[in-house]
Amino acid sequence: MHKKDDNNFKQFITDIVKKHGTPLFLISGVRLKERVEYFRKLLPGVVPYYAVKANPSSDILKTFADMGLCFDVASENEIGNLLKIGVPPDNLILANSVKSPSLIKFAREKKVLLFTFDSEYELQKIAKYAPGSRVIARIKVPNVGSIVELSLKFGLEPEDVLSLLVRAKNLGLKPEGISFHVGSQCTRVENYLESFELTSMILKDAQTKNIRLKIVDIGGGFPIKHFSHEEDIFEEMAPVLNREIDRIFDKSIQIIGEPGRALVGPCCTLVMRVIGKSIRKNKHWYYLDDGVYGCLSGIIYDHCKYQFNVFKKGSVQISTLAGPTCDSFDIISVSEDLPELEIGDIVYVKNIGAYSIATATNFNSIPVAKTILTE
Ligand SMILES: Cc1ncc(COP(=O)(O)O)c(C=O)c1O
Repeated sequence: MHKKDDNNFKQFITDIVKKHGTPLFLISGVRLKERVEYFRKLLPGVVPYYAVKANPSSDILKTFADMGLCFDVASENEIGNLLKIGVPPDNLILANSVKSPSLIKFAREKKVLLFTFDSEYELQKIAKYAPGSRVIARIKVPNVGSIVELSLKFGLEPEDVLSLLVRAKNLGLKPEGISFHVGSQCTRVENYLESFELTSMILKDAQTKNIRLKIVDIGGGFPIKHFSHEEDIFEEMAPVLNREIDRIFDKSIQIIGEPGRALVGPCCTLVMRVIGKSIRKNKHWYYLDDGVYGCLSGIIYDHCKYQFNVFKKGSVQISTLAGPTCDSFDIISVSEDLPELEIGDIVYVKNIGAYSIATATNFNSIPVAKTILTE
């Protein structure tokens, strides 16, 4: 970033804090559009279904809906919020592979008829509450090195898939494809490549049973930069993914993806202020007005590490950052290199759009940071 950009950014943050106070969760509308275009440019053969769980903010949903995006949903509210803003039900996939009967019934009533499953019990539920629906088998795939492992909880063993695709057909459902998730913030391209190979074998096996699968859902996992010094690994992975998709899958197969983090992560900034300060065992502690019970909840649930930035200059010392609640669990970081800060100084975190405000609570009745849609 150039010096001028730095100064502009500082002015922008200072002005917005003066107007709205802190903590603030800033969403850049321009960045949201850029990220969708970036995804489409990097993976032109993959239709993105935005994983709403990453950040269900109405500003984000509206921006993406206006761009004609499809969505991966997991609950009644996610479905309802999207239908309310005019997203056609055909543009949704209910990709929560374990759904309550009432969620399946609700989806059917709303004409959302594409479901993932990863067990026979789930197929039976879908057949009962949404007969005739289209189903996609979610398989367990390598999640090696991904920051959030999803195959721990979800996915059929690949050898069990064929019999369940046949079972789906016998239950009157339409088996349409295979899905997987390589784990969130996946920096190992081999996870995708091994999943493609597994999926391709299943597609071939299915044909022997007269089941022609049409969709391969490569899930999410596409990594972002959380720190300014990091490389953009997604950009490096994309040509390999494109080449292998072209090589492995027939042109007639529709490839879809469920990116969450990659679309919203880089679009949001959390702005906080120092509300308290102390020196414990010779170390500075700074208490901020947001913490792990709020928008920094990704530290816990997303196993995420963030870059904490300040405008203050000066010699740095290892300091602790803590949140505003009464719980000693609310410690954000014990080793941040920071100049000496004072009450009221701003601390901000970029690239915090995914799995942050989505999992924030209002513990201690402290309100969740105010969201502002900016340019
Ligand atoms: C089924 C499913 N699809 C997509 C995603 C989004 O993943 P990511 O944010 O890593 O792209 C998740 C994340 O948990 C998921 O569970």
